[in-house]
Amino acid sequence: MADSPFWMIWPGNAALSALTWFVIAMPFLYAARAPVHGLLRSLGQLAGGPLRLASRALLASAQELRERNRTVLLAQGREESGDRLAREFERVAALVKRDLEGYPALQRKLLDEITRVEEDYKKCGEVPPPPPDWVDAVAAVAKIKPNGNELVQRVLEEINRSVNRSLEKLGIDHADLILLHRPDYLMDPTETGGALDGLISDGKTKFVGVSNFSPSRISLLAHGMKAPIVTNQIEFSPLHLDPISDGTFDTALRRGHRPMIWSPVGGGRLLTGDEPDVAKIRTVLAGIAETYGLDGPAEAAIAFVVRHPAGGVPIVGSGKRERMLGAIKAAATVLDRQDWYAVVAETSPMLSL
Ligand SMILES: NC(=O)c1ccc[n+]([C@@H]2O[C@H](COP(=O)([O-])OP(=O)(O)OC[C@H]3O[C@@H](n4cnc5c(N)ncnc54)[C@H](OP(=O)(O)O)[C@@H]3O)[C@@H](O)[C@H]2O)c1
Repeated sequence: MADSPFWMIWPGNAALSALTWFVIAMPFLYAARAPVHGLLRSLGQLAGGPLRLASRALLASAQELRERNRTVLLAQGREESGDRLAREFERVAALVKRDLEGYPALQRKLLDEITRVEEDYKKCGEVPPPPPDWVDAVAAVAKIKPNGNELVQRVLEEINRSVNRSLEKLGIDHADLILLHRPDYLMDPTETGGALDGLISDGKTKFVGVSNFSPSRISLLAHGMKAPIVTNQIEFSPLHLDPISDGTFDTALRRGHRPMIWSPVGGGRLLTGDEPDVAKIRTVLAGIAETYGLDGPAEAAIAFVVRHPAGGVPIVGSGKRERMLGAIKAAATVLDRQDWYAVVAETSPMLSL
């Protein structure tokens, strides 16, 4: 009993002691409820003020933290973007540098090419030194013995004159090709053919050809020659279509020689002629030039003449570099059949399909 805590009314029975105390305290607690409630309310009000202040302070801090986080994130994003941009710039700069490194070499090559073309062009206008071999060529022709026949004599003189003229104009050391210019209706094919064969066998020219020969005259001369006639230089242009219908091109195809085409732009008349017919052809050619990206009617005319399967080689008469370059481009252009026939139809409707 002496060992029991002081509050135990019933020694050894804590539960019963606690229940007894509860029953005793109930009336007091009931009586004290109003003042205790007031006390608690006062304490609550007392603590409410500082807590509200503290909560406002915490809200302000939270807001401040949010702002700071935002600023930090923005700064970090900016830094990362800056780094990425800097890396991208470096990559692009490396690419540009690598690409540009090739340009000086390319530019040098282009300049070299331009200089070479300019020099070639200048050389074309220079008069080369007299070629001694041509003198031999003339001598060789002169050495062919006339047999008393007036025709042979004339042929030899003609060839001699022609060789002399070429010698003066071209000044080349040996001839690749000699053309017999215009048929001589009094020609003896055996004598003339023999003279031409003689030039080849003496090594003074590699080939011989003719100019303005009709199909039958070519056959006649070929009959009197051992060497082949490699070309017939003839007139052909949108203003002069005869070779396509008079057998000239057919003969070239059959015999296997490539014609050379003189006056492919009609000696300039195609470009400047005032006649209504010429103006109409010029308009058709201008349309073709536009379609194929050529410089103009002259170049369209050149594309027209090379289109025939006889494989004619145009001899462009212009001395102007730009026009020659335009002609080279035109000679590599293949006209459609309908465009080729449009030119034929304008020049000679009877010949068009
Ligand atoms: N075998 C023969 O019977 C015979 C007959 C005649 C001619 N040919 C030879 O054929 C060659 C060419 O004859 P061709 O002079 O009558 O040829 P062409 O090329 O028909 O005519 C050349 C003329 O056209 C002018 N032209 C204007 N624009 C042109 C352009 N864009 N392209 C070309 N030419 C343009 C030229 O003037 P610019 O000079 O101002 O450019 C030049 O006066 C002659 O040099 C000659 O060797 C042979």
